[in-house]
Order: sequence, then C-alpha cells, then structure tokens
Amino acid sequence: MTIHIGANPDDIADVVLMPGDPYRAKWAAETFLTGAKCVNEVRGMLGFTGEWHGHRVTIQGSGMGMPSMSIYANELISSFNAQTLIRIGSCGGMQDDVKIRDVILASTASSVSTPSSTILRDVNYAPTADFTLLHKAFHAAEAMNLDADVHVGGIYSSDTFYDERPDLNEQMQRHGILAVEMEAAELYTVAARHGRRALGVMTVSDHLLTGEALPAEDRERTFGDMVEIALTAAFDS
Ligand code: HPA
Repeated sequence: MTIHIGANPDDIADVVLMPGDPYRAKWAAETFLTGAKCVNEVRGMLGFTGEWHGHRVTIQGSGMGMPSMSIYANELISSFNAQTLIRIGSCGGMQDDVKIRDVILASTASSVSTPSSTILRDVNYAPTADFTLLHKAFHAAEAMNLDADVHVGGIYSSDTFYDERPDLNEQMQRHGILAVEMEAAELYTVAARHGRRALGVMTVSDHLLTGEALPAEDRERTFGDMVEIALTAAFDS
C-alpha cells in the first residue's frame, strides 16, 4: 500500500496499462480482462487487476498531466515492482497527415519540463519509448487493419490543455512533432530511471490544425483498439 495506491503488494501485475481516466480503466478491465478485481480506489483513481489470455495485467488510471502520472508511475515501479507501463490515451494531432482516429505510437516525448526536470536540472534529456514494445505495438496495430493510419514518431507532452503559447505549438509542428498530450514524457523518464519498459499508445481525438474532434460514438471503439494494441505489445513474442 502506498499513499496513492491502496493495493496489497502482490495485487499489481508486472504489466500495467495506464489510461488517464479511471473510468476508462474500469471499462477496459470489464471488457478485456477475466476475473478483474478492483485493487485501488484511493482518490477515485481506479485500478483493476485481472487476466488477459492467461497473463496477469493491471489497468490503473494515471490522472491528467505529468505530476499525476509521475505519482502513479513512481509508486507502481518503486513499491509494486511494475516492469512494463503502457499509457493508453488521447492526443491532439499536430501535422496535416495525422488524422482524427489515427493511432500514434510515441517513439519520443518532448516537453518544456517534466517533474523529473528537478533531477535532470540543465540536461535536455530525451524521453524515449522502449523499442521492443514500440516494435511489437506497431506490428500489432498494422495487423489489426484499423480504419486509421498508424504513425510512429515524436510527440509533445504539454503542461497545459488550454494553451496560450501558439508559438510553442508552431515550433513543435515545425520540428515534426506528430501530436500533443500531457503524460508520456514523464512516464518514459521515470521508467528509464528505474530500468523499466514504457510506451505511449494514443488515438488522435482532436486536431490542432483543423479543429476537428473525434465523435463521441467513436471514442469507446478507438479506446478498445488501444487496449488491444497495448496488450498484444506487452505479451506477444
Ligand atoms: N492538448 C493536450 N492534450 C491533449 C489534447 C490537446 O489538444 N488532446 C488530447 N490530449
């Protein structure tokens, strides 16, 4: 049991999927896992552990933003010994060829700063996904014949959803950043610091250039696709 995760030591699996929204964690556990049991309710940040094709999996909400993600990633790793942490979530498209519904596998996550910047100080560290997970996720997503494209590349982990620095987004776009979200850079950094594997699998839910948004009726299906991609990447050899 930690300050933010009220689970017993062996309640958390080696593989943890991390949606931002705790109700998405509940939906994914009920939809994809057998024998799912609620292992965390502290602050309503729900976590569930069950089995997928015979493999133990935990699905734990991360909350929104890097400080929240940092708390859960640190506790999952340091107190529960989680080995593989995969963020599943939404992002805002930042390039013309990135469309609503597309899947983004974030090979890197740039940021202005993350909670780990207090440790890294003047180092411009490059938060990077685990290559094996990324590779497997790419093949899993391709094999699913999704009604959307799969992109691998850099994303931007922002500290703000209501952004008032259009110049910053412009620079990210100029430098080939595919999409913006708010958690991956810190997840990658914390995982790397502890020698664990991490990946971010995101669906484009809105677009910064076109102003388009994913229709509500598509959100559940695209979220389910991400769960499947993440689980296949975590376990299939
Ligand atoms: N900005 C930041 N985070 C996001 C966005 C966005 O436009 N869309 C989904 N997550």
